[in-house]
Amino acid sequence: MKIIGTGSALPKKVVTNDMLTEFFDTSDEWIRTRTGIETRRIMTDESLLDLAITASRNAIEAAGLKAEDLDYIICSNVNNNYVYPSLSCMVQGAIGATCPCFDIRIACAGFVYAMDIAESFLTTGRAGKILVLAAEEPTRFCHWKQRETSVLFGDGAAAAVVEAGSEYMGARMTTISNTEVLYQRNRLEPTPFEVEGVYVDHPMVMLGREVFRMAVSNCSAEINHLLKSKGYQVSDVKYFILHQANMRIIKGIQQYLEGTDEQFPTTVQKYGNTSSASIPILLDELVRDNKIARGDLIVMSGFGSGFTTGSLLMKY
Ligand code: ACO
Repeated sequence: MKIIGTGSALPKKVVTNDMLTEFFDTSDEWIRTRTGIETRRIMTDESLLDLAITASRNAIEAAGLKAEDLDYIICSNVNNNYVYPSLSCMVQGAIGATCPCFDIRIACAGFVYAMDIAESFLTTGRAGKILVLAAEEPTRFCHWKQRETSVLFGDGAAAAVVEAGSEYMGARMTTISNTEVLYQRNRLEPTPFEVEGVYVDHPMVMLGREVFRMAVSNCSAEINHLLKSKGYQVSDVKYFILHQANMRIIKGIQQYLEGTDEQFPTTVQKYGNTSSASIPILLDELVRDNKIARGDLIVMSGFGSGFTTGSLLMKY
């Protein structure tokens, strides 16, 4: 696999921590010190589909391709206004692609899992050019009366176009079934046969400290394992492009791996936690700011509800 183009799209509305004090008993100081977040982007008159289309078009243009050249679209998305069809089907038609497509729902680690699937499609020759997209509106996961979760998130989308190449060097995916620490339950239509209490809808539930602990320990251990198994050291890696959940989680992983600040770029302070879109948004920002060069060794690593972790080692 080789990345040949990236693109991203963010809502125009910038929401500061101070603006959130209008809705909850919170403060800029609490949010900054606990999470590192200063602002986030939240959708107003845009839809997630709009962001997904713009991010996809930007990535396809950067790759020097046309939408008709794509052989597959793989989209990471946890939720959007439609339960079905999948978001990738809507994006496909809107951008003028004709290839098959599907969504995966692996929460914040979704982009890394989607890249790993793309690698296997390329390796087996099932596809030549793949659009790997992540589009998320996590500001709709939480109940906007719950200050514990609502202050953490922002919306966004980003994509990468990949083709066959020798830049992919390995991946490590893990799932530890722990459904209690982080979940949201959908509302389903009642049937006349259901027994009351079996299905209960619920906005996001997050045991913050437990998620924090699992994120730092699992992600650090998995990255370490991946690097060792491929014969690399932390110092060989130009950038660790981590899921942007919380500045303290990122710093915790950096400390464990004994990396430098330069190796751990961040966007969480500006965009909050954009779920699986956070990794490709950061990647695209590094590309657009000319901070990453062809051949640089990068690790992309995500973690989230499940509890899942996914880490990918590749040359840019
Ligand atoms: N503003 C002000 N006070 C708040 C807020 C808020 N937004 N939220 C909670 N508090 C209060 C609590 O009510 C509590 O008050 P109390 O002591 O009177 O009971 C106090 O602050 C401390 O609450 P804790 O939950 O213990 O705070 P903690 O230091 O653990 O920080 C946080 C909470 C930021 C959520 C932290 O646990 C964390 O970062 N966890 C990781 C979660 C995460 O990043 N999730 C992302 C989604 S999942 C993913 O992307 C993988």
